[in-house]
Amino acid sequence: MTEDLVSIFIMGKRHVVPSGLTIMSAMEHAGYRLIRGAGCRGGFCGACATVYRVPGDYRLQIGLACQTVIQPEMHLAQIPFYPGHRADYSLDDLQPTFEAVVTTYPELLRCLSCGTCTKACPQDIDVKQYMAEAMRGDIAAVADRSFDCIMCGLCVSRCPAEEVQSNIAILCRRLYGKYLAPGAEHLAKRVLEIEEGMFDDDLASMKSLGEEELRRMYDERDIEPE
Ligand code: SF4
Ligand code: SF4
Ligand code: FES
Repeated sequence: MTEDLVSIFIMGKRHVVPSGLTIMSAMEHAGYRLIRGAGCRGGFCGACATVYRVPGDYRLQIGLACQTVIQPEMHLAQIPFYPGHRADYSLDDLQPTFEAVVTTYPELLRCLSCGTCTKACPQDIDVKQYMAEAMRGDIAAVADRSFDCIMCGLCVSRCPAEEVQSNIAILCRRLYGKYLAPGAEHLAKRVLEIEEGMFDDDLASMKSLGEEELRRMYDERDIEPE
């Protein structure tokens, strides 16, 4: 074996792959075609949460497969999904309150403030803190603090209290968006104009044009100054 190759195990089978690859690239190099559990490949979509073990460490490690670089003798396994309760709800029936969150996710009150979730988060979100804010009913604070969540579920996978932090946070972001965030008046006005048919004639006429004419119109369009 040359210096640039390392052994890894995928589902117990040894593969020799170039060092420096991410888990995702290493699996593909070994011949696996990733149809599920892969998305943006850039650490943004949260689809590729994965577990692994390294020699000499009994602990199950976690990470994003598209971001975590392989280590020699690493053991990889696929798990079907991260278990986690996802409640069904209609925002129309809820208010931006502690009661709404705790009724939808009663497990909220089990949080031990251990901080394991914060250590697990690849987005460096202080998950423990937003859970505390959720327990105080501070919906706006949870929405703000969890804004960069990519819903990877790694915090959920580590929680000793079987919390579903990311699902609680997205509920708070939805409540914030629907009830607390300042309204975008210009957007509401434009939606109304569209609904009232202000652009129907323009759209119909554009649909009748050929590609060349559409390209010309696109090139000559008004562009707002920066
Ligand atoms: S890992 Fe679970 S119990 Fe610990 S702080 Fe996070 S949500 Fe709370
Ligand atoms: S808060 Fe949880 S689900 Fe969201 S990015 Fe962090 S670890 Fe992933
Ligand atoms: S594939 Fe999107 S975060 Fe890894």
